[in-house]
Amino acid sequence: MQSIHAIHPTLRPIVTLQELHDSIKDCQRCRLASGRTQVVFGTGNPHAKIMFVGEAPGFYEDKQGIPFVGAAGKLLDELLEGAGLSRNDVYIANVIKCRPPDNRDPMADEVETCKPFLLQQIELIKPKVVCTLGNFAMQTLLGKKVGIMKVRGQSFQVKDFFVFPMLHPAAALHQGNLNEPLREDFRKLKAFLDRQQEPVPPVEQMNLFG
Ligand code: URA
Repeated sequence: MQSIHAIHPTLRPIVTLQELHDSIKDCQRCRLASGRTQVVFGTGNPHAKIMFVGEAPGFYEDKQGIPFVGAAGKLLDELLEGAGLSRNDVYIANVIKCRPPDNRDPMADEVETCKPFLLQQIELIKPKVVCTLGNFAMQTLLGKKVGIMKVRGQSFQVKDFFVFPMLHPAAALHQGNLNEPLREDFRKLKAFLDRQQEPVPPVEQMNLFG
């Protein structure tokens, strides 16, 4: 991925998540600034190997300043636990850092305005796997207009990390038939993470069996 400073050379170099947070906490770059309570930056382990990226804050996230604290967040916590993970192991953020009015979908210009900050978060955290929750985050990070049902539960190498698209927990709450597919995505994530932990076989053994 191109460095953010190549794309936005006027941004001063930011070296910590706290500096990045401070630099956008009073952001007025788009129309969402007028309706938000606060910028919802992200939460979790700043050195996480696994990051989760949702779409945008909802009502409770906007009030509390923390991503995924509403009903979708409760489901996410349960799914994380099932995959042997907790919020302390991972980092959770959104593509859009401010709540869209009435939880409407983010607009293309809002995504473009906010995307550099997500890319900077990824640059600073340096995760090995970025799990995208839902269509918006997946399309933002893969840069493709592909549908989530085509790519969910698979890994895509993007420069030095993998993007792992998953269904959005809110989608499963609204459409009961997506509940099992969402759980399947988390089982596939666990299997993918377990495979990443396996030692690479020595070259001699690969030759013997390959
Ligand atoms: N949905 C999201 O995409 N993000 C949140 O933080 C909460 C709900």
